[in-house]
Amino acid sequence: MKNIIGLIQEELCGAFKKAGYNEKYAKVALSNRPDLCQYQCNGALAAAKEYHKAPIQIAGEIVEILNDSENFKEITAVKPGFINITLDDAFLADFINKMTVSETFGCDITAEPETVVIDYGGANVAKPLHVGHLRPAIIGESIKRIARYIGHNVIGDVHLGDWGLQIGLIITETRHRNPELPYFDENFEGEYPKEAPFTISDLEEIYPYASAYSKEHPEYKEEAQEATVQLQTGRKGYLALWQHIINVSIKDLKRMYTKLNVEFDLWKKESDAQPYIPDMIKNMKESGYAHIDDGALVVDVKEETDTKEIPPCMILKSNGATLYNTTDLATIVERKKLFNPSKIIYVVDKRQSLYFEQVFRCAKKTKIIDAGTKLIFLGFGTMNGKDGKPFKTRDGGILRLEALLNDIEKQVLEKMKERNMNEEEINETASKIALAAVKYGDLSNQASKDYIFDMERFISFEGNTGPYILYTIVRIKSLLAKVKKENITIDENIPIAPSCSQTGTDVMLSLCKWSDTVHAAYEELAPHKICQFVYELSDAFNKFYHENRIVNNEDITLRNSYIKLSRLVGNVLETATNLLGLEAPERM
Ligand code: ARG
Repeated sequence: MKNIIGLIQEELCGAFKKAGYNEKYAKVALSNRPDLCQYQCNGALAAAKEYHKAPIQIAGEIVEILNDSENFKEITAVKPGFINITLDDAFLADFINKMTVSETFGCDITAEPETVVIDYGGANVAKPLHVGHLRPAIIGESIKRIARYIGHNVIGDVHLGDWGLQIGLIITETRHRNPELPYFDENFEGEYPKEAPFTISDLEEIYPYASAYSKEHPEYKEEAQEATVQLQTGRKGYLALWQHIINVSIKDLKRMYTKLNVEFDLWKKESDAQPYIPDMIKNMKESGYAHIDDGALVVDVKEETDTKEIPPCMILKSNGATLYNTTDLATIVERKKLFNPSKIIYVVDKRQSLYFEQVFRCAKKTKIIDAGTKLIFLGFGTMNGKDGKPFKTRDGGILRLEALLNDIEKQVLEKMKERNMNEEEINETASKIALAAVKYGDLSNQASKDYIFDMERFISFEGNTGPYILYTIVRIKSLLAKVKKENITIDENIPIAPSCSQTGTDVMLSLCKWSDTVHAAYEELAPHKICQFVYELSDAFNKFYHENRIVNNEDITLRNSYIKLSRLVGNVLETATNLLGLEAPERM
């Protein structure tokens, strides 16, 4: 279905052509003076140069042609050469009626689905999720949902960190505590125990302890590094222990991501790329892209046009150990083989941008991936506390995600004390609101920017917040429940009437932006555009709700029309919030 701007543009194209001007000047945009008009075309200003005429003259000619168009209530030429457009109410309502019968409310589904891998979440085994994992999970999940909604074939992969020093540290610490375990006996021939020698709470204590200890004790750190290499080169007992770490961790990570309403299609791990490393390195060497520098195997990735220093991409350390780079490159090999994607999007902390620049250049240069495949780094900014510094616990420690979520849920519950709900409903509702508060607070900011985590503001039921959006949806749900309770039948054959009120028109104009918003959010990887949309629509709807009688309207046709409009707003809002990963309760 054509979007509304496209329809308006069609008319303008006709007029530009008729008047003898190139139709490329007929571009239409939303008005930046909504007090004067709804849409505008600034093409006469640009055309003036080519045709050596005053812009206002050209604008005047266009307006002259379109003055009689039924689709415009008003079209005027304004100095120095703007064309201001206000739609005819019937034309607008007609578009809205088409939205109501479209499954995607007029949002075009792509005719050319791409296969897109989204690498997000960024969790590491053996380490609990902390606030730093909030952004990649929330942003990645939203982008995945948006891409899928448009019809792309999307694969969301958590790409667990399971192959680095953190495992070596845990092996080492476990060895210090329980040297008698069979995992450490190199002559052990039997079957290793099925039961892990630690629980998730043990791991959560062991890892930070070992990590801190290794910083103070170089010999301990060396031991851990050695254990990492031995794991990576296949020491049996260590592999068995590593498998236990993975099993215990994944179970807990799944629980946490479920709590966040974040769902991965794939639970791949860094280690899954290991089988692809030998051939990859062989090819890099044979093709001459990789060379030895100071004992290490590297690929130069700097380019002439660089304005900053881009160091070589290191593939193997001088001791033969593989690196984070090596794994990421091998993962590209693996993804190409398994999915042949046209895009891989990495949702990772923007502090890793130089690193990904190196990896991407290396992948292209060494032809691991063809030039046509897009490797995209979506670097997100830091979540800061009110003091403007990275969000920490009160005593300066790293805040666990679970603790943060529980805390917010508690505060939401506090606000909802007075509600007439049973315990189960109130808890479920509070957790939906809390999640919406956190996610919306995050997603409403442009991903690349740092933002302040302001819990009080985020959980407020008023203003540009998640709870406010949910509140609007709930309001519409209860309006529809009332319609049902009062046995009002909605007549589907009577279309939504041209609006009789300014607030109704504003709701319709907001709704018209749906398709463009979703597409822009995908093209620009910008869920914040969906947030802007839902906020504007919610605001428009709430004004409309306050100023008009909907269910109680004495005019039956108008009542039908307003109920249908409200229902459309509710459906669009619910779909949009779902793309953000939020879920609305029935009541709140
Ligand atoms: N686990 C990594 C970290 O904690 C993030 C992984 C990002 N994805 C990737 N393909 N490198 O920093």
